[in-house]
Amino acid sequence: MKRKLAIACDHGGYSLKEAIKARFGDVEWLDLGADSAESVDYPEYGRKLAEAIASGEAEQGIVICGTGIGISIAANRNKAVRAALCTDVTMARLTRAHNDANVLALGARIIGEEVAFDIVEAFLNTEFEGGRHQRRVEKLKS
Ligand code: RB5
Repeated sequence: MKRKLAIACDHGGYSLKEAIKARFGDVEWLDLGADSAESVDYPEYGRKLAEAIASGEAEQGIVICGTGIGISIAANRNKAVRAALCTDVTMARLTRAHNDANVLALGARIIGEEVAFDIVEAFLNTEFEGGRHQRRVEKLKS
């Protein structure tokens, strides 16, 4: 069975969103928009993605805007979300291993496409370590 991930972006992240979907064709993408590079407001797309995670429609997701900052702030307003803005592979690996991040945030104007692909790969292929990290993640929920 294909792994299902939600993905959302604003206009700044549109082209990277499309590139990621094409590169990771073995994933079933729940694409929540935006659907073009026409100017939109990132809080709406961060919220949509967070709602998909909270409802269980997808277990994990990716949000993309120009910096990755605005849309990660928006997604993190939902208590079901632990969104991590990553600019390199080490951050992606460690946020899965230690924070059990369920949403990856990317800044399309900050990193190149190849770096973004490597980050997504690391995010998808790293398991949460649990143990002492479980206690800390539990504390994020209160
Ligand atoms: C849009 O111009 C830009 O502000 C947005 O993509 C993002 O970088 C916000 O954090």
